[in-house]
Amino acid sequence: MDKIIVTGGCRLEGTVPISGSKNSTLAIMAGALLARGKIVLRNVPRVGDVYTMVEMLRYLGATVEINGCDVVTIDATYLNNREAPYELVKKMRASFWVLGSTLARTGYARVALPGGCDIGARPVDFHIKGIQQLGAQVSLEHGFVEATASQLRGSDIYFDFPSVGATAHLMITASLARGITTIENAAQEPEIVDLARFLNALGARIQGMGTKHLQIEGVDELYGNEYTIIPDRMEAGTFAIAAMATGGDIFLRNAFWEDMQPVLSKLEEAGTSISLEWNGIRVEGPDRPHATDIKTMPHPGFPTDMQQPMTALLSVADGTSIINETLYESRFKYAQELARMGADIKIEGRSAIIKGVPRLTGAPVVASDLRAGAALVIAGLMAEGETEIASFHHVDRGYERLEEKLCALGAQTQRFQEWVEGEELCSV
Ligand code: EPZ
Repeated sequence: MDKIIVTGGCRLEGTVPISGSKNSTLAIMAGALLARGKIVLRNVPRVGDVYTMVEMLRYLGATVEINGCDVVTIDATYLNNREAPYELVKKMRASFWVLGSTLARTGYARVALPGGCDIGARPVDFHIKGIQQLGAQVSLEHGFVEATASQLRGSDIYFDFPSVGATAHLMITASLARGITTIENAAQEPEIVDLARFLNALGARIQGMGTKHLQIEGVDELYGNEYTIIPDRMEAGTFAIAAMATGGDIFLRNAFWEDMQPVLSKLEEAGTSISLEWNGIRVEGPDRPHATDIKTMPHPGFPTDMQQPMTALLSVADGTSIINETLYESRFKYAQELARMGADIKIEGRSAIIKGVPRLTGAPVVASDLRAGAALVIAGLMAEGETEIASFHHVDRGYERLEEKLCALGAQTQRFQEWVEGEELCSV
């Protein structure tokens, strides 16, 4: 188990380099299995989930090298395995997306079903239905999805909900299907646009990225190329909220304003001053945030992944805020941990009523998932005294060197890491 101690009261100021997008990298690595040839990915974040996906690609037979601080090369010309075990899929849900690329490449794939997680059931019914529509025979037995297709064929797919994962997974799978595939009510997230641009760089023919209407014209083969991952809007959003939480003044170097608009407009409502520069975004926090209401929605709505850090910030706002979480059924569990620090949050169904208190006080708390951990760090930065956050390895899954980057901005943190035999937090 590992933990971090955050001492509150330090004002953050300075420049923070924003790393590449974790969620974009995971989708792109799953798609890399389609190509025969060498792929060079740049601006890859060094986070736990990326290492898990590296492990998955190597397990399937791809050659994967991690070199430099942010470069990963992948060569999936020769795949020698078509099964992905539960031990790997349970570590990181997005590894389920190798089902479609392995199937499209080899005509067969058997991948463990990902379970639920702390924020919700996380079903994959849209993924499975879409792969069946592309002509695969699919069976679900013993916790595995088995898919067979001698030749995938284009189809017209409609999503009841603009699922990010299902859009990524089916865009990848349809890239090698014969004919045209359309996806209606597709996800519009920047990470989906990044994936589509990456696949087109390998020779795919995808149109409509960033809209609800995707069209994928299948091709016979994809080949290697180089590609640079977009910056991580969730990391940038987390640091912007941290600046607000401490009344600080920080520069988010490399952040893409156009990807962060939903979060930045809410932060401005809460009293932040935002200024855009050619290579990033300056965020200056007010002495105390103003209360504001938030409803999480698919992009271009307010992202659910920023709900948790935002709730922490609004727990000390000058009024009452209401946050409505429309994507996940249980993404407020961490509020109990904030309550231990003095926050006044009432959960009613999928809404949190947050009555701002003058200050939080440091306390021992536990991170239940990646973004909950980030929320507790935000709370610790604001609290009086020390906050000890256990199970901090959740945060390492999606934030690169978070504590180092915070300390470089003036935060006071201490990291205690016990090396659990056989469990590598971040392999190199
Ligand atoms: C992606 O998860 C992200 N993960 C999540 O980020 C993010 O919270 C989520 O999109 C929403 O933006 C990655 O990109 C690796 P969804 P995903 O499919 O693809 C329902 C983080 O912190 N649904 O868009 O799993 C589902 O239950 C993580 O980085 C179905 O019903 O999200 C949920 O209510 C956490 N059936 C909604 O759609 C399906 O087949 C959104 O899920 C698929 C989804």
